[in-house]
Amino acid sequence: MIGLIFGPPGSGKGTQAAHVEREFKLSHLSTGDILRAEVKRGSDIGKEAERIMRAGDLVPDDLIIRIVQGILRDPNVSSDVLLDGFPRTLEQAKALDAMLATEGHKVDFVIAFEVPEDILVERLLHRAKVEGRADDTRDAITERMHEYRNLTARVLDHYRKAGVRVEEIDGVGEVDEVFERIRNALEP
Ligand code: AP5
Repeated sequence: MIGLIFGPPGSGKGTQAAHVEREFKLSHLSTGDILRAEVKRGSDIGKEAERIMRAGDLVPDDLIIRIVQGILRDPNVSSDVLLDGFPRTLEQAKALDAMLATEGHKVDFVIAFEVPEDILVERLLHRAKVEGRADDTRDAITERMHEYRNLTARVLDHYRKAGVRVEEIDGVGEVDEVFERIRNALEP
């Protein structure tokens, strides 16, 4: 089972993925978390990604595709996965489809959040005060929204056209309330 959790910055992907992981027994894989861990470790990947992420831009497709490929091919990783933050470009989506096809798999569902931009910005600026994440600055948030609108949003059309089940979820409200919507959408 391969699911995607999809939406603009601050829409609740990471927050809700933790609940979906528990409830539906999927293993949560966040490319943002992986990259932040690399930055923290000071690895070569981290060094390459740090400045790009701080500016709110996307890291190069080939870099992130290599990382995801390595994880999905790892025999110790469950084959029931919830991908968060990947794919983010058409290039990445096509690479993921090709990776899965070699094993006879495909993306089974997409959970796609809809949240108005003013609420997204408010959430991220609030997190900036509480957690101080390096890309929660006003400039980086503007750039992240721009990248989402220009490159990432079209990934959803790619999966719609491919006939993949896309569940659009209103991401506004209490965390539990939003999760209830996801549960209702995913349960048969
Ligand atoms: P990534 O870590 O994926 O960040 P993002 O997409 O900008 O999303 P966020 O983590 O900010 O938000 P989220 O939707 O997960 O919401 P969250 O639950 O955290 O990527 C970071 C960077 O890494 C990218 O900009 C790029 O540089 C690079 N990168 C990653 N993947 C890549 C890829 N595939 N290709 C290229 N580059 C890539 O919630 C946000 C805040 O809101 C939290 O404080 C939370 O507590 C709060 N919140 C959540 N739900 C609610 C609610 N219902 N009500 C009120 N507050 C809420």
